[in-house]
Amino acid sequence: MIRLQNVTKDYGGRPALINVNLHIALGEFAFLVGPSGAGKSTLMRLLYREETPTSGSVFVGGVNLNRLHKRQVPLLRRRLGTIFQDYKLLPRQTVFNNVAYILRALGVDEKEVAKRVQSALSVVSLEHKGDAYPDELSGGEQQRVGIARAIVNGPPVLLADEPTGNLDPATSLEIVQLLERIAERGTTVFISTHDTTIVNALRRRVIYLKGGEIVSDVDSGVYELEPNLNV
Ligand SMILES: Nc1ncnc2c1ncn2[C@@H]1O[C@H](COP(=O)(O)OP(=O)(O)OP(=O)(O)O)[C@@H](O)[C@H]1O
Ligand SMILES: [Mg+2]
Repeated sequence: MIRLQNVTKDYGGRPALINVNLHIALGEFAFLVGPSGAGKSTLMRLLYREETPTSGSVFVGGVNLNRLHKRQVPLLRRRLGTIFQDYKLLPRQTVFNNVAYILRALGVDEKEVAKRVQSALSVVSLEHKGDAYPDELSGGEQQRVGIARAIVNGPPVLLADEPTGNLDPATSLEIVQLLERIAERGTTVFISTHDTTIVNALRRRVIYLKGGEIVSDVDSGVYELEPNLNV
C-alpha cells in the first residue's frame, strides 16, 4: 500500500532522508519513530505529496507519486486520510461541518453527507457533538474530530504525524487504540511519533528512523531510545 524505493530527500545540507526503502502492506498498522530531526515528518510529507523526493520513488496504493501530475494531487489526497498534531480544524465551523468539508468539496449530496458524517462521528464516539465548535472540545475530542474527518471518505490509507503530540498520556493511548480499531477494519494506518509510552503499549510494527536512515524495523516492537541495531 505504501512503498519507498531508494528515497533520498535533500533540502540542502545534510539530507533529511537517505536511501530509504520501506514497504507497508494493505491493512497494516505501523509506527514511525525516532528522535527530533530524524526525518519522520519529511517521510510523511512525501507520502501525501506535500514534498517530492530528491531521488527514488514513492508509491501509495500502487500509484507512483513521481509520475503524478500536479492537478492529480487532489485525487491522491482523497485516497489518503491525514491527521496532524495540531488537529487543523476550521475554528469557525461546527464539528459536523469540519467533517463534512471534504464530502461537500467532492459534490456529495447533503443527505449522503449527513449519513456519512454521522457514521464517522460515531466511530470516534462524538455523534452527540456535531453542533459544537472546536474550541468547545477537549484536545482529545478535537483529535477525534480530526480522525472522523480523515476517515469520512473511507480512504484506504491513514497517515498521522505526531497525532498525540499535544495530548496527555491517557488520552494519547485512547487515540492510538482508536486508530488501531480503524486499522482492524482494513485501513492501512501509519503513525509517526516520539511517544515511547503508546508505542510500547501497543507492540505493533516499529520502524526506527535516525539521521534520515531506517536503523531498525521490527514487528511487535517496542520503542527503545537506543535500539539494538543488530536485532
Ligand atoms: N522544509 C524544510 N526545509 C529545510 N529543511 C527541512 C525542512 N523540513 C525539514 N527539514 C530538515 O530535515 C530534517 C528532518 O526534519 P523532520 O521535520 O522530517 O524531522 P522529524 O523526525 O519530523 O522531527 P520532529 O520529531 O522534531 O518532528 C531536519 O534536519 C530538518 O531541519
Ligand atoms: Mg516531525
